Amino acid sequence: MAQLSRARRRWIGVGLAAVLTPAALPGQTPTPARPATRQTVVAGDHYQAGWLHRLLLGAHYRDLWATPLEVDVLDLSRFAGGLTPTGCGGRRQTKVLRLLGKDGRQYVFRSVDKDPTLALPPDLRATFAKKLVQDNCTICHNLRNVVLSNKSADDWDNTVDMMKNAGAPITADQAKEIKQYLIASFPEGPRPKPAVIDGPIKVKFDIWNVPTPGSRPHDPLATPDGAIWWSGQFANRLGRLDPKTGEMKEYPIPVLGGPHGLINDKDGNIWYGGNWGGHIGKLDVKTGEYKIYPMPDPKAKDPHTPLFDRDGILWFSVQNGGFMGRLDPVSGGPRR
Ligand code: HEC
Repeated sequence: MAQLSRARRRWIGVGLAAVLTPAALPGQTPTPARPATRQTVVAGDHYQAGWLHRLLLGAHYRDLWATPLEVDVLDLSRFAGGLTPTGCGGRRQTKVLRLLGKDGRQYVFRSVDKDPTLALPPDLRATFAKKLVQDNCTICHNLRNVVLSNKSADDWDNTVDMMKNAGAPITADQAKEIKQYLIASFPEGPRPKPAVIDGPIKVKFDIWNVPTPGSRPHDPLATPDGAIWWSGQFANRLGRLDPKTGEMKEYPIPVLGGPHGLINDKDGNIWYGGNWGGHIGKLDVKTGEYKIYPMPDPKAKDPHTPLFDRDGILWFSVQNGGFMGRLDPVSGGPRR
């Protein structure tokens, strides 16, 4: 179905389910009544939840899943000159139906809704933790991230902390439950073995654990004073490490920032791209205070990597907004 847009593919997926009820299958009655060309369906009625459930687990996209929608009905005898089912499948989370069109093309239909149960060992199916995962871990992404991962127990521990920091609406107890469940259900698999190569080069790694678990530290920045700064995106903070003493200090950002790339200015202050907050932020390293520069255009919602040019102008990329931005720290705010 490469030629159909993603949105259209979805609704056809739903419409197909509606038409595949036995009465509608062509060939079962000598003169089948023409099925209606449009049908009203609900994509995910089971996501409806009472107020308590909503209160505990959040509303998420439940209303969207439960909204009745009018969709095109796929007429197997007419679409693409007539479709012949050739097989069904779907590993793990989705149901898949393959059909061959008279036009010689293969068409694949995939269910809109996903059921992660099929990806689990049978004895763990239908557990409470599974429901927690399905309810809370599908708000921002689908469960492919979980199913396709290869994580040790420590990795899972860290990942769930990270997702909690990112906004997964789970309590500490639920996080514990989810961790246990993920560790048991998705254990670490074999990885390619590293090859050890003889040579004159000796390297040594020192590892420092940052104070806040699950903060997803990235974009380490070495500054002229010998410090290493990092952005703890999922915990909304910047951090500073003195590699000589191992001392670390974190600087929580007072508004939602989701800091990404970092750069230092000539006075040693640290600037970041506020990827989730739609701003550029500056940490004054002397006072520990932040100054926030919101984007002038709401479409520039996710500033990413900042860089200073020789004239002291800050340039930055805006990841999905698709802009390059310019900020003059002397005259004020950013411009696109
Ligand atoms: C508030 C949004 C949000 C929620 C809710 C959420 N995640 Fe994520 N998840 C993310 C983001 C953002 C990424 C990072 C994508 C990237 O790598 O850029 C991610 C990536 C992942 C990854 C792949 C990256 C890695 O480190 O392996 C896994 C696994 C994952 N999430 C698991 C979960 C689980 C389990 C839950 C439920 C406890 C969950 N997520 C809930 C936002 C969320």
